[in-house]
Amino acid sequence: MKTDDIRSKYLAFFSERGARVCPSDSLVPSNDPTLLFTGAGMNQFKDYFLGIGKMDFRRATSCQRCMRTGDIMNVGVTPSHHTMFEMLGNFSFGDYFKQEAIEWAWEFLTGPMAIPERLLQVSVHDSDDEAYGIWQKTIGLPERRITRLGDHDNFWPADAPKLGPNGPCGPCTEIFYDRGEKYGCGATTCDITCECRRYVEIWNLVFTQYDRQEDGKLDPLPQRNIDTGAGLERFAACLQDVPTNMDIDIFQPIVAAISERAGKTYGADKESDVLMRRVADHARAVTFCIADGVLPANSHRGYVLKRLLRRAVLDGRTIGIHEAFLHELVGVVGEVMKAPYPEISQRREAIASLVELEEGKFLATLDKGLSMIDLAISRAKGTGHSVLDGATAFTLYDTYGFPYELAEEVVEREGLSLDREGFEEALTEAKMRAREGAKMQGDVFAKGPVTEVKKLTGETSFCGYDREECSAKVIALVSGEALVDEAGADAPVTVVLDQTAFYGESGGQVGDSGILVGPGNLVVEVDDTQKIDGIFFHVGKVESGTIRVGEEVSCEVDGVRRTNIRRNHTVTHLLHKALREVVGDQAEQKGSYVAPDRMRFDFQHPQSLSSDERRQVEERVNHYILEDHEVETALLPIEEAKKQGAVALFGEKYGDEVRVVTVEGVSSELCGGTHMHRTSPIGSFRILAEESISAGVRRIEGVTGAAAYRVGREEADTIASLCQDLKVGPDEVLNRVRSILVETKGLRKTTIILKREQVRGQLDDIEAMEILGARVLVKDLGGVLGKELADAADIVKRKLGDDGVAVLAGSDTDKVGIVVTVGKNLCPKRLRAGDLVKQLAPMVGGGGGGRPDMAQAGGKSPEKLPDMLAAAPGIIEEALKASAG
Ligand code: SER
Repeated sequence: MKTDDIRSKYLAFFSERGARVCPSDSLVPSNDPTLLFTGAGMNQFKDYFLGIGKMDFRRATSCQRCMRTGDIMNVGVTPSHHTMFEMLGNFSFGDYFKQEAIEWAWEFLTGPMAIPERLLQVSVHDSDDEAYGIWQKTIGLPERRITRLGDHDNFWPADAPKLGPNGPCGPCTEIFYDRGEKYGCGATTCDITCECRRYVEIWNLVFTQYDRQEDGKLDPLPQRNIDTGAGLERFAACLQDVPTNMDIDIFQPIVAAISERAGKTYGADKESDVLMRRVADHARAVTFCIADGVLPANSHRGYVLKRLLRRAVLDGRTIGIHEAFLHELVGVVGEVMKAPYPEISQRREAIASLVELEEGKFLATLDKGLSMIDLAISRAKGTGHSVLDGATAFTLYDTYGFPYELAEEVVEREGLSLDREGFEEALTEAKMRAREGAKMQGDVFAKGPVTEVKKLTGETSFCGYDREECSAKVIALVSGEALVDEAGADAPVTVVLDQTAFYGESGGQVGDSGILVGPGNLVVEVDDTQKIDGIFFHVGKVESGTIRVGEEVSCEVDGVRRTNIRRNHTVTHLLHKALREVVGDQAEQKGSYVAPDRMRFDFQHPQSLSSDERRQVEERVNHYILEDHEVETALLPIEEAKKQGAVALFGEKYGDEVRVVTVEGVSSELCGGTHMHRTSPIGSFRILAEESISAGVRRIEGVTGAAAYRVGREEADTIASLCQDLKVGPDEVLNRVRSILVETKGLRKTTIILKREQVRGQLDDIEAMEILGARVLVKDLGGVLGKELADAADIVKRKLGDDGVAVLAGSDTDKVGIVVTVGKNLCPKRLRAGDLVKQLAPMVGGGGGGRPDMAQAGGKSPEKLPDMLAAAPGIIEEALKASAG
């Protein structure tokens, strides 16, 4: 059976049993900032399991794209490990429980999947008599095909009672598929716990009934839930009867493309096969990570992506592919995954170009990095060391882009290990910076009273698209970290209302500010509004009066600020369109920030915009503004919106109904932000900066409205002052400045020549004094410094001859330069220029050094130069005496 059929049959089967078919969440979890990646189908339903907030449905089914890196070393090696994989799941939130979950699983396997009953076995938690009973009595499985196991095998997450994590968990029952003797070890003891993989766990049914607490206590959840998960690729491998997950229909074309590129037959050599499978896995994972908005970086998700990508490149190299190739696989991945994810194919060029860029960066240093590892390895082996130092690992990481784990793998292949501690030490500082950068929005609330608030209320209703005022009821108040019933004057407070006109920060648009006014003389100054899981948090301070839970207040949004935000938001849509028109469709949006005073827009593009492109983009946006397009918003079913061509961001979580913002005749995007009704009141748009923010991603910063006018005004003022100073009109100012620059350049040259001649003149008839047989010249050359001073020293050295000693100095208002030379009859036995400089420089507030025959120094106290010059002959005399004595 084809993988696509298994997926669709599964979703249809559970849909027929009343489950809502939910789209896969992004690999970047949409509702849990504490998670690196979505690792299971249940992640997106975490609150549903906990019984928090509003529940639209009680049964769900999904095919979730997941990413797990814990088993990364097994990928390609074992038949069934992946980094990214798909998980089929059905879920009940306080609805059906063990009986139905088990019966339906059995029905699906033996019905639509047509698996012969004899090939199935199960395990249950050793305490779970109920599940045991269902398998034995309702399903009719003989006892020998039901195994009782402990917390490690039959609790999810594994060992959670003892080891955590906290949160929803429970005992589980697992279903195993017997792949037959040809996959087995043949031992008489072989059973579902055997390592040989004859019996493959194809489905895990979790009875999620506990909420693990910090102290390890298993609190019963308010409701009993079902969370099941079946790895799609593994399932398909069993049904298609192929040796590994990479041999199933949707992976074969990827492996085939790799083997063709490498010129190696898949199946001919075990080691190459492992690498080909691994590259296939990583190519798909990399494609989906990028599609979900992850970018290669040195921390957090970006680091995982970088590591996967570079590992695939390195593996490619090992199987004989020396050029960038991974990006070519994006198209193949798009093709095999097009049934569930048609967007990948549509966006393949944009994704591939990012992959290619990152491949290129790694390839550029790969050879140097590899030879550095080779050298370090042979050095370590030669000196009998088995551990490679951390500093080497850090250089590999920092300079040659080898993720630590990759360097470790290469080193371990040679039987050595890497000094992790040393590496960590070198990295600490960089990591601290990365951690700062990785601080995610929502963190502030992650451990705060948000969970408590969620228990009190569902989503806040937002009425602020057309209004800037409304009345509302206070649902909850948070002061400090706690829920309170009231808050008085001066108290910092976070207010939750039943409805609001304040926009809560989301989709890159900042939250609104304004005031809440209430009974008595209540005024709350709202500085910011945050939106978390649909609940709006008005953050501010009580200015006067007392705010109380249950009372009515009136919301008043700061309208001027809101209008400026709207200008900047609508302009991001115009900019997105203009960019695509000027540089091409691959200039996809990667992020945005919309504030009252400015906006920024991040987009994919491999190099900086040329000044011409930048001007064209700005002009186009202004053109759209002036054309005064109407801006319309509509709520549409998601499929309808996509059909109409609205630009949706892949991986973004959209509800069934989406808001589409259409700038008539320009663009249509899914967007929840607040917008202008027409484009002309945006006024105008100016690009202030265009820069790179990470590999392949550029950022444009811009301003609109009054701010754009101000930028223009300030530039005009600057030009006006220039005209005044230069006494020319605005049309002539550019030419005038250019001619001044040419003139200045000429003058600078002439000055240098004159100075040199002047110095030569000063040196024409030097008079050296005689000190203990040495010809000593101590001379102040005035404003001669730097290279001229060094040139002068050369001339003097020649003139004084082999017995000469010169101390030359120059100065300006705040610095001194000194050069000392010593002729070859004196140097180095009797005098060293470096030693003399070390004595002289401190006298003018400086330091320096150099060779025995010539040394240079700088100082910061020109006023002390005369004293130094006066002392120099004495110092030279002392040194000569000391060497003679
Ligand atoms: N959450 C469970 C798992 O990941 C079942 O979906 O195995």
